[in-house]
Amino acid sequence: MATIRLGDKAPDFTAESSEGKINFHDWLGDSWGILFSHPADYTPVCTTELGTVAKYKEEFAKRNVKVVALSVDGVSSHQGWIKDINETQNTTVNFPIIADEDRKVSELYDMIHPNADATLTVRSVYVIGPDKSIKLIITYPASTGRNFDELLRVIDSLQLTAYHKVATPANWQHGEDVVIVPAVSSEDAKDIFPKGFEEVKPYLRMTPQPNLDQ
Ligand code: BEZ
Repeated sequence: MATIRLGDKAPDFTAESSEGKINFHDWLGDSWGILFSHPADYTPVCTTELGTVAKYKEEFAKRNVKVVALSVDGVSSHQGWIKDINETQNTTVNFPIIADEDRKVSELYDMIHPNADATLTVRSVYVIGPDKSIKLIITYPASTGRNFDELLRVIDSLQLTAYHKVATPANWQHGEDVVIVPAVSSEDAKDIFPKGFEEVKPYLRMTPQPNLDQ
């Protein structure tokens, strides 16, 4: 059983999907990525989740994020189910669903948790950076549909750290002040953060969200 931790290189794989064969790293290219598994096709919670992800296409595109889903069902099952998702969720599924019938990818990413279910994948989410490293891992139980607004919020936070040297405080929402990362000295912060910053403590420096005008 593979153990994947933050900072690890995302394991590469080639697999069939509802949109043809995918080589994961090639498919990601220079984008950020989300790989998420769901327990099975034709199940109610998954139907709402995949419909929601389809509706968030523009939000993911704005952030340069490509999304791919996975379950242990086959391509023809995925294709039939996609019709149901489109019909019931009033959307068009616009991302691939990996058909992991031999559980190769599920095992590579430790998505089967035998004490929860011996054969089906749990609701895993992996966020992958453009450098192909794992940035986020979340595991939900099968019975809880994911909060994709939270996923967008975390991606915003990850990108603020990657591109602007800031971290995000508890319960941060887009537009709120952020925290200057400890690696930046207060001397350097004067140049890096032209909007200024408040030094609440030497280790706690707050600044307006740097990329708000983008
Ligand atoms: C669902 O996807 O709807 C689901 C799957 C397993 C348990 C409960 C719900």
